Amino acid sequence: MARHQRIVILTGAGISAESGLGTFRDKDGLWTKYDLEEVATPQGFARNPAFVHEFYNARRRNLLEARPNPAHHALARLEREHPGRVLVVTQNVDDLHEKAGSRNLIHMHGELAKVRCAACESVRVWREDLSLEHVCAECSTKGRLRPHVVWFGEMPFAMSKIELALAACDLFVSIGTSGNVYPAAGFVQQVREGGRAHTVELNLEPSEGHTLFHEQVYGPASEVVPAYVERLLGA
Ligand code: OAD
Repeated sequence: MARHQRIVILTGAGISAESGLGTFRDKDGLWTKYDLEEVATPQGFARNPAFVHEFYNARRRNLLEARPNPAHHALARLEREHPGRVLVVTQNVDDLHEKAGSRNLIHMHGELAKVRCAACESVRVWREDLSLEHVCAECSTKGRLRPHVVWFGEMPFAMSKIELALAACDLFVSIGTSGNVYPAAGFVQQVREGGRAHTVELNLEPSEGHTLFHEQVYGPASEVVPAYVERLLGA
């Protein structure tokens, strides 16, 4: 395998499935049990903030117990050992990439272990349950703290940094994502239009856009990701 200088890796819920965190669109996925309009839109939060807090509190509690699996560890190892640059762009709001040791990491859909004040926009680390009773430590406003996650209809974070990395990469790897949610679902097309980079999908099953990738490997992330990283580092 040719030595790549700049690698961009997009991850989705499938990389964390074997750490016990549910995916969204698989059988038993979160969006089969909850209406995303109710729990993952600004309008849903405005209608019933207590219910939305309950939903994210439960997910935050799950996160406290979750541990990275061999796929997260393999990506952290790639960043440490690869002589070129490795950027992980994750759609996941869990913190398993950083727990495994990834440092060059963008949380484009935000982070569950942080809250943001809707009044003053300050962001802080938050590991407990969140409620309407909480007061912002920065501006003292009560009841305006919200999970620091991106809801449908909101702009993902760090898009200009991501666009630059996509334009400059020579290898793009998509892991554990169904390819349903834009803009992330469009990254492979953007990279292909640039014409320089090799593109690879590692997933349990073919995603929506699987034909856009030069190469596909299907299987559980805990197996296919370490094997792929081994191949990259051994090249
Ligand atoms: P999805 O639930 O849509 O897709 C998960 C993908 O992971 C599917 O293609 C599965 O086949 C695959 N998968 C499941 N288990 C796996 C395993 N053990 N190993 C490898 N792959 C596995 O999740 P995402 O694509 O991440 O956004 O969803 C994208 C966005 O939609 C999320 O970030 C979230 C959601 O709504 C927001 O909430 C804004």
